[in-house]
Amino acid sequence: MASITSASLCSLLFLLPFLLLQLSDLHVSEAQNVPIAKGLSLTFFDTTCPRLESIVRKQLEKDFAEDIGQAAGLLRMHFHDCFVQGCDASVLLDGSASGPSEQKAPPNLSLRPQAFKIIDNIRRQVHRRCGAIVSCADITALTARDAVVLSGGPDYKVPLGRRDGLNFATAQATLDNLVGPSANTTEVLRRLARKNLDVTDTVALSGAHTIGLSHCSSFTNRLYPQDPTMDQTFAKNLKTSCPQNAQVDATVFQDIRTPNVFDNKYYVDLMNRQGLFTSDQDLYTDSRTRGIVTSFAVNQTLFFEKFVIGMLKMGQLNVLTGTQGEIRANCSMRNSDNTLLSSVVDVAEEAGQLIGF
Ligand code: HEM
Ligand SMILES: *[C@@H]1O[C@H](CO)[C@@H](O)[C@H](O)[C@H]1NC(C)=O
Ligand SMILES: *[C@@H]1O[C@H](CO)[C@@H](O)[C@H](O)[C@H]1NC(C)=O
Ligand SMILES: *[C@@H]1O[C@H](CO)[C@@H](O)[C@H](O)[C@H]1NC(C)=O
Ligand SMILES: *[C@@H]1O[C@H](CO)[C@@H](O)[C@H](O)[C@H]1NC(C)=O
Repeated sequence: MASITSASLCSLLFLLPFLLLQLSDLHVSEAQNVPIAKGLSLTFFDTTCPRLESIVRKQLEKDFAEDIGQAAGLLRMHFHDCFVQGCDASVLLDGSASGPSEQKAPPNLSLRPQAFKIIDNIRRQVHRRCGAIVSCADITALTARDAVVLSGGPDYKVPLGRRDGLNFATAQATLDNLVGPSANTTEVLRRLARKNLDVTDTVALSGAHTIGLSHCSSFTNRLYPQDPTMDQTFAKNLKTSCPQNAQVDATVFQDIRTPNVFDNKYYVDLMNRQGLFTSDQDLYTDSRTRGIVTSFAVNQTLFFEKFVIGMLKMGQLNVLTGTQGEIRANCSMRNSDNTLLSSVVDVAEEAGQLIGF
């Protein structure tokens, strides 16, 4: 009797780590098939900045309690960072003597000014606690992940270890790398294929438009004259929000069903011809992507799985690692442009001289 008990106890103890491993890995099971870029790691800051992820999460919980719309701004920031010159936080740089930055580039993208502040505020807290060892690019990737999670979307582990870029992307690079909202599926697929994103990745990542806002100017070409692929009532309401020749460029929700929730309703919108941009709606019109749209509209779990895969691929585009680039002390400027930093360094050096180094 005793031996049976201890035998089963033994096998339970033997199995326990595997059971726990399986449970904790469930939400990233398929995502694990996405290769991790050389130089990045899922445990990068485990010993050097163990509180990193909780600092990010806690601060964003506060920020989103004030304005959940900022989640969309942060998600889009990561997309724009990664697509132009790789995920190197170049999007965060203020324009400088070296030329117009991505922020100021023509499809300046109406990135939310507050998103820049949120990222640098978190950077400041992280650097205060751990030293200046975490890049603005990593913080941007973490805020995008948490934007998804805190809006109701899937959780996933972010490979970390990105370094910040030293170079601004030119306005031309910004134009060349970002797709416009009036692009059709052929064009969208072509552009995203250049980033090694396949058809499923493209449809899944477009699902980010389940949260956030768009300015009227991004889609009024579909209202005046009215795009026949657009639902009549939807078009009528959009025309009310976005009158022709309006003085101000108003904003509307991207997902009319659940505007602030990260869910699969974006695909339901598309099936009802209530997508905002041509780049959205054409995913349902085009036979190559229609089936994927439908599969995500009926199965949110499937969408979440594919979205995470897309985010992991996008989040590792052309990353700088190791000794490349730098860890910026202020996300909006390169260290070499940071006069505050050089004055701090001077002071430290003077202090060193005073105590006899
Ligand atoms: C496939 C090509 C894409 C096109 C053509 C596109 C285009 C746009 C446009 C025109 C806007 C509205 C900007 C404005 O008028 O204020 C927008 C908003 C947004 N996009 Fe995309 N986008 C694309 C892909 C993505 C991806 C891959 C993501 C993230 C994974 C993303 C996330 C967002 C978010 C969250 C917003 C709302 C931003 C806010 O509320 O501040 N988009 N996008
Ligand atoms: C974006 O650029 C356009 C034209 O280049 C400009 O009119 C607009 O004010 C800019 N918007 C932002 C938010 O910088
Ligand atoms: C899609 O857009 C491309 C580039 O703008 C254009 O050449 C092509 O004819 C369009 N395809 C369809 C099916 O409208
Ligand atoms: C939805 O997708 C998930 C993930 O791929 C799959 O396991 C599940 O069987 C699908 N559910 C249905 C009802 O098809
Ligand atoms: C970072 O630099 C910008 C100017 O580019 C400045 O406005 C901001 O105050 C700086 N942030 C910190 C925390 O010093």
